[in-house]
Amino acid sequence: MHHNSLKYCILLALSSILFVGSSAAAPTAEAGKTIFQNQCAACHNKNMKDNLTGPALGGVEARWAAYPKEDLYKWIRNSQSLIAAGHPRATELWGQYKPTVMNSFPAFTDDEIASVLLFIDAQYTKAPAAVAAGPAGGAPAEPAKPSKYIYYFLFVILAVVVGVLSRVINNLRHLVAAEDGITLPPQKTLWQTLTSKAVVGFLVFALVVLGGYTTVNKPSDVSRDMPLSNP
Ligand code: HEC
Repeated sequence: MHHNSLKYCILLALSSILFVGSSAAAPTAEAGKTIFQNQCAACHNKNMKDNLTGPALGGVEARWAAYPKEDLYKWIRNSQSLIAAGHPRATELWGQYKPTVMNSFPAFTDDEIASVLLFIDAQYTKAPAAVAAGPAGGAPAEPAKPSKYIYYFLFVILAVVVGVLSRVINNLRHLVAAEDGITLPPQKTLWQTLTSKAVVGFLVFALVVLGGYTTVNKPSDVSRDMPLSNP
């Protein structure tokens, strides 16, 4: 019985850690945005709809859908080698755009490419008003910031992991003590833990820090509107 709940706790803790780890490494449009701006935007229009030096990238996955998924990844890593290999889509593109050679990105990981593709699709399919807002190359209306909530979410998960781990440690201490024939005082209930001095103290501390952070942040928003003395 005791053993079972211990196993359950460890499993839960491990899976939370795995979950946090994998969600942090998974491809995101946010990561793709940075890659696109730094490595692709010089040749590919960021509205994903108009051609520039290179073709508009909106809907690109559909244009490669007839081939294995790796082909598009190979293209992005090294377009010239795919052209040399006689790949139908690659030679078709080359026929339209030669002699302009696309940069090679041999070091891209699959996740990085998946991130760029996510960003391309998000940019291509987002509401037209937002795209129209930035025709002069300025940043189009900032996309909503889901990242903030991801941090809150991760924070909650981490807090749960910490809680579960401390319970696991406690259980282990009780097991060891029981083997030595010692009985420790009964474990605190969840409510007792939540209302303990340390937890309440930490919550107050976190609130003060958060409060300070938001008040400090506001004036800096205002100062951004002030004219610069040195243009
Ligand atoms: C130096 C300019 C240049 C850069 C930088 C560049 N590309 Fe290209 N890209 C091209 C050109 C030109 C083509 C058309 C084919 C050709 O000429 O090789 C192309 C074609 C493509 C295609 C095929 C589109 C289709 O409709 O099938 C994809 C996908 C692509 N690029 C992705 C990227 C990504 C992702 C990046 C950034 C990581 C990038 N490109 C950076 C110039 C560039």
